[in-house]
Amino acid sequence: MALGPARAQDPARLGEAELLELVRAQPAPAHIAIIMDGNGRWATARGLPRIAGHREGVKTARAIVRAADALGLRYLTLYAFSTENWNRPEDEVSLLMRLLEESIYRELPELMARNVRLRVIGRPTGVPLPVRRGMDHVARATRDNTGLTLLMAFNYGGRDELLDAFRALARRVRSGELEPDEISESHISRALWTGDVPDPDLLIRTSGEMRVSNFLLWQIAYTEFWITPTFWPDFDAAELYRAVAEFQRRTRRFGGV
Ligand code: FPP
Repeated sequence: MALGPARAQDPARLGEAELLELVRAQPAPAHIAIIMDGNGRWATARGLPRIAGHREGVKTARAIVRAADALGLRYLTLYAFSTENWNRPEDEVSLLMRLLEESIYRELPELMARNVRLRVIGRPTGVPLPVRRGMDHVARATRDNTGLTLLMAFNYGGRDELLDAFRALARRVRSGELEPDEISESHISRALWTGDVPDPDLLIRTSGEMRVSNFLLWQIAYTEFWITPTFWPDFDAAELYRAVAEFQRRTRRFGGV
């Protein structure tokens, strides 16, 4: 099917393949970040235990990595576990950790086949050793892949990330390597866990909450937001492409006119 410019199409009426064709015809965003929310409510609405929602959530994450790859995205950041998530009931946290440990090893062959590189951002301390080992193993095995970079935010907090960056810069100042007045935005960006990764162009949050939840606080200064009421287990490639189509229709002014 021949498609005209994105402006002439109504993404709400198109299926996955047409949407992909539509968004691929326009400049794609380089980096999409996603706050995956609503696993628990998805399960509760079906009379299932919350862990059943997380299990479905892992399947959605897999589908979205495939969709991002098909889109030619350079970076996809998924908020998998925040520093605040430890406050959940102990049994949910331990089932979730076991699920993540199992999933990470299972995904390795597909990540390799798709040339995807996994990077983990967050504080390693406090993460159960088997989960940490799994993530380190997959990050190491995929280190030289050159396709999509998948950043998994795990035990991640935006303020913790900024604290670490400020401490690292303070140490450089104390050692005499850097003058306080020389500190620029790019020094701060480079000192973050995301380092050389470009800021997200688009931030998606599922399940309708209108919050940033301590995610990528510095990096989202000029990021476009797209919030959907869909619970994460029901989010799919078509909805991702609809979000991208909407992003492509917006004009980003970066504070200008
Ligand atoms: C979101 O729903 C759940 C999380 C952020 C926890 C972990 C995420 C997954 C298992 C999905 C994919 C995983 C990976 C590793 C990419 P919630 O429990 O906050 O839902 P609620 O707000 O309805 O309670």
